[in-house]
Amino acid sequence: MNIHYLTLFPEMYDGVLNQSILKRAKEKGIVNYHTVNFRDYAENKHNQVDDYPYGGGAGMVLKPEPVYNAMDEINTRNARVLLMCPSGRPFDQKFAEELSKEETIVFINGHYEGYDERIRNLATDEVSIGDYVLTGGELASMTMTDAIVRLIPGVIEEESHMDDSFSTGLLEYPHYTRPREYRGMKVPDVLLSGNHKLIEEWRQEQSLKKTKERRPDLLENFDKNNKK
Ligand code: ADE
Repeated sequence: MNIHYLTLFPEMYDGVLNQSILKRAKEKGIVNYHTVNFRDYAENKHNQVDDYPYGGGAGMVLKPEPVYNAMDEINTRNARVLLMCPSGRPFDQKFAEELSKEETIVFINGHYEGYDERIRNLATDEVSIGDYVLTGGELASMTMTDAIVRLIPGVIEEESHMDDSFSTGLLEYPHYTRPREYRGMKVPDVLLSGNHKLIEEWRQEQSLKKTKERRPDLLENFDKNNKK
């Protein structure tokens, strides 16, 4: 998979993409990350990328030319082009699974008050990572990269994400490792029983309980999908 980031702050990506699993995915040749500073594609002397809004109002608006020019330099054939903004489609695990199958993803990261509306025509999707406003799309695109790349086959063991929270439609059940007892807190007996059927039932029960307590909104969809 090729992932391109159109950004005014390419250095923001250096740490995140060069650590841990995202780094390993690159070293294995599964994914390539490319940052593009679209300021380099501005069409004026001062490399200005934003301007005052027509009609007046507070804040600056991202100009279309630098973004369009930068896009012209990228191979966007069959690419998913994601415009990061708080008014976009909410990003979730299902969307991450869908995007993990793409060959090319382009993130367009805005700053300032907003985008010139014509920039939206470049996007296949407008995406938000939650109902809050960030100073720019960079952190959102890094969050999404992390969620997407770990799902690409070969990046981590497949079993490790089969039971992930949200993949099953429920929140994940509790995990325990050694020691059997720590500061008076014991590992539930069922996990030591060796009875796989009982363990499976206990985990399902715990997942349901946790989801009911913390995210009853998820249960509605879960019930619907499991009735069919
Ligand atoms: N840019 C600013 N806020 C954002 C959000 N919540 N999601 C994605 N991109 C953003």
